[in-house]
Amino acid sequence: MKPPKRLQGLIEEGLIDTVVRQLTSGKEAMVYVVRCGGETRCAKVYKEATQRSFRQAADYSENRKVRSTRQARAMAKGTRFGRQSQEAAWQSAEVDALYRLAAAGVRVPRPHNFCDGILLMELVTDDSGDAAPRLNDVLLTPEQARSHHATLLIEVVRMLCAGVVHGDLSEFNILLGADGPVIIDLPQAVDAAGNNHAARMLLRDVDNLRGFFGRFAPELLHTEYGHEIWDLYQRGALHPEAVLTGRFERKLGPVDVGSVMSEIDDARAEEAARRLRLHAAQ
Ligand SMILES: Nc1ncnc2c1ncn2[C@@H]1O[C@H](COP(=O)(O)OP(=O)(O)O)[C@@H](O)[C@H]1O
Ligand SMILES: [Mg+2]
Repeated sequence: MKPPKRLQGLIEEGLIDTVVRQLTSGKEAMVYVVRCGGETRCAKVYKEATQRSFRQAADYSENRKVRSTRQARAMAKGTRFGRQSQEAAWQSAEVDALYRLAAAGVRVPRPHNFCDGILLMELVTDDSGDAAPRLNDVLLTPEQARSHHATLLIEVVRMLCAGVVHGDLSEFNILLGADGPVIIDLPQAVDAAGNNHAARMLLRDVDNLRGFFGRFAPELLHTEYGHEIWDLYQRGALHPEAVLTGRFERKLGPVDVGSVMSEIDDARAEEAARRLRLHAAQ
């Protein structure tokens, strides 16, 4: 196909030889199949912030690291430099997460290059070498559903052990490659330790997996892996080989005897005061 304008620069740089076809035009990006040397790769071209949807939300950018305080101030004020910085932080967050997760043994596309707001990465393919389908586009047997669900829970645990919560994990952001599920689309990934919304996001990610795979294997709908994983993480007991049960007992917090006693004292004092007032009024 005739290369789109945004990819022209990479062709001139020699990073891309030809553009084969447009794969999708999603919420945040346009994705192309490209040829580089002898290899077929995938180019993700980020849309401008103004064309993007909800995921710029503060929840996700909380605690995202920027290089300078000037940048941080500009981002907070929303100046042009600030918007550009925010844009760059958003885009490079996906590249950072890809490297971090690959190093932690999570199956994500291998990144090759990141330049001019375009991410060049491995094209995830199916058995016949075509771009792999999203989980949402395939029908699964109950056994396949159970097996992919188990594989992806291990991936979620590996991500969390590497300090990352995906934040938008669902059947739309998982591809079914020739060697199994591959997790994609990470610009909103959050830092598990530094983001107050990390717990909520992790639970939502794991619930999405349960809801999707539960359509094919309904017994999964009764599992509680999200709470179990977060509880282990919080107690410092989560590691990549952790054996999960899918069960979680909601514990009643430890009783704070001191505060219960002072509640009782307060109630006694109030009652005594009420009696005094009553007595005085008679
Ligand atoms: N590395 C990849 N290999 C194959 N297909 C991909 C790859 N990355 C993205 N895609 C395709 O492009 C679509 C959009 O990419 P995604 O990263 O999810 O961006 P968006 O933010 O637009 O959802 C995906 O649903 C998938 O079909
Ligand atoms: Mg997506």
